Amino acid sequence: MTIRSSPSPTAAETIPGKQGIPSVVGGAPDGEWDFAGQDTQYATHGIHTYVAAMIPALARKLIDAYAPDGGTVLDPFCGGGAVLVETIRSGRQAIGRDINPLAVLVSQAKTTHIEAEEIRRSGAEVLAQAGEYAGPPLSFAKSDFVEFWFKDYMLAPLTALRVGVDQIQDAALRKLFQALFSATVRSVSLTHRNEVRLRRMTPEQQETFNPDVFGVFNKYIALAEERIPDLPPGSRAMIESGDTRRLNLPDAVADTIVCSPPYGDERNGVNYTQFSKNMLYWLGYSRKEMQGAKGSTLGWGKENRNVPPSRSLHHAIDRLSDNPASAREAVAFYADYYAALREMARVTGQRIIIVIGNRVLNQQVLDNGQITVELMDAIGVQLEHCHFRKLPTKRLPKMREAGAAIDQEAILVFRK
Ligand SMILES: C[S@@+](CC[C@H](N)C(=O)[O-])C[C@H]1O[C@@H](n2cnc3c(N)ncnc32)[C@H](O)[C@@H]1O
Repeated sequence: MTIRSSPSPTAAETIPGKQGIPSVVGGAPDGEWDFAGQDTQYATHGIHTYVAAMIPALARKLIDAYAPDGGTVLDPFCGGGAVLVETIRSGRQAIGRDINPLAVLVSQAKTTHIEAEEIRRSGAEVLAQAGEYAGPPLSFAKSDFVEFWFKDYMLAPLTALRVGVDQIQDAALRKLFQALFSATVRSVSLTHRNEVRLRRMTPEQQETFNPDVFGVFNKYIALAEERIPDLPPGSRAMIESGDTRRLNLPDAVADTIVCSPPYGDERNGVNYTQFSKNMLYWLGYSRKEMQGAKGSTLGWGKENRNVPPSRSLHHAIDRLSDNPASAREAVAFYADYYAALREMARVTGQRIIIVIGNRVLNQQVLDNGQITVELMDAIGVQLEHCHFRKLPTKRLPKMREAGAAIDQEAILVFRK
């Protein structure tokens, strides 16, 4: 495979960016990294969905091209575990961190090898226990709006499954079944699929939507039984809850980072907390626990932050100056992002690969690729390669008229 060599930050052929700032990451997608229409549900990826997940084939191509054989790959924003699964499948060691407990659970479940027979036995036990459960359905605080997303008939079988899953003694098996239960919760909930935010089905759509809860769970057990045993036995994925601004990891613990960071747009864009909330409530997490995790999201604390050292970011903040709330939001996010990048540089020995698109805030486009390169430069880490990929959906056409490349992502490869 040939990796197109791309401009380094010092290359003369810089491409004029917005506001006359030379862009080191300007470029056009060449199709090699798009993976449009590719299956994203193969292997253990299909066991549980996640929002804004990386395309597994993209993760794999990056790992094969840039991570040493048998080495360690870290995803410090691991989400649904796409990078970690491909790391394990490629015979490398995986380390994952995320602040969202659902991301941690799902990533652990997707990367832990278990024999088919054990899954079959536990599945039969859970279903038998669930079938006998005669207690009341779980109830949730009115203010949590959980029942709003389910039909009344679903509450008893979901409760019965949760009780059955809680009985599993073995920790790895219990986590797998918690993930399968969570997938079932998502599957039977009254939200539209394949959307980044929760949106309730219309009454007409609800009328014909009457899934059999045990049947859905059974389907996920069958999927797990087929795919989990295919993970390499003895594979090691070390996945924990953790804040990337303060990683509890030694220096240079990983050879390579492969990740797609959040963009700080939980309010208007991808909202990880909203996506996870019904699944986490059903798994027994409290609102306080969820809010605790949300409070660690990059950009959440907005007070007294300094603009980190990126010329493009400074210009963007100037452009936002007539909207102080947006400017504060941007500064808060990039200050945290800079702290995360510094930690990422500390815990990595060789390469840091960041897949990132632009962000639109108050009609202004923030060139995340360029800003990332400048922040990494301030840390002392240089861009080695840069690729571009087209996003499958054409988003915000109005912004494209303004010259912004928001329907593509930059793949930034940094070398320490
Ligand atoms: C774009 S998603 C990653 C998706 C992932 N690549 C996948 O394939 O599913 C970004 C993730 O960053 C996590 N995140 C946000 N702030 C974080 C922080 N301070 N530390 C660690 N993870 C964080 C979010 O919970 C979210 O799961």
